Amino acid sequence: MIYLADTANIDELKQLFNYFPIEGVTTNPTIIAMEKKPMSVIMPELVELVGDKMLHVQMISSKAEDMLREAIAYKEKFALGDNYFAKIPVTMEGYKAMPMIKKQGINVTATAIFTQQQALVAARAGADWVAPYVNRLDNISSHGIEVVGNIVENIKQFGLKTGVLAASFKTVDQVHRVSMMGSQAATISFEILERLRSHPMTDMSVEWFEKDAEGLYDIDF
Ligand code: E4P
Repeated sequence: MIYLADTANIDELKQLFNYFPIEGVTTNPTIIAMEKKPMSVIMPELVELVGDKMLHVQMISSKAEDMLREAIAYKEKFALGDNYFAKIPVTMEGYKAMPMIKKQGINVTATAIFTQQQALVAARAGADWVAPYVNRLDNISSHGIEVVGNIVENIKQFGLKTGVLAASFKTVDQVHRVSMMGSQAATISFEILERLRSHPMTDMSVEWFEKDAEGLYDIDF
């Protein structure tokens, strides 16, 4: 499973790109709103930081034709290449837009997925990635992990090329479980990424090693 950062916060992204093997960034209108800056300011910053890693940008139009125009506008205005993915919600218009956007040579990430069937339809409509919302499912007493597992299984069974990009996490355990389900990717907040990569026992062990090494490691480097 590869890791993506589910944030548009430039300080968080700078930190992550410095040490975490992040393969890309995902945004949605809620994430953008948290930054209190318009897209015209955020986009150039994101594009520069992300480099050749993946950048998933959510379309906000509700009609398929407008989604297509929006997807093309981002590509052209910010000179985006193959690492750019237009995030399209799996509404009726969204499903209609997916093949239209793919036809223009733009990658598609189907988002706001809550069932295995929504994911399968999106995969058939040509989506490169499908993004099931794990925590939002868990929060309504449904089963986010199970839905991710079913999508992974189905895509494998039917020999589809679509990848599963699990999204919406509030705990490290949810991330652990989707990776055990074989999700190809997960997009995760800065806070949860920090929690999952660290452990107090690791810090303690390193402290002990440093103490034990005192005066013994005399080789210059
Ligand atoms: C992915 O890009 C999704 O939009 C995001 O992970 C949703 O997360 P939330 O349920 O924490 O808002």
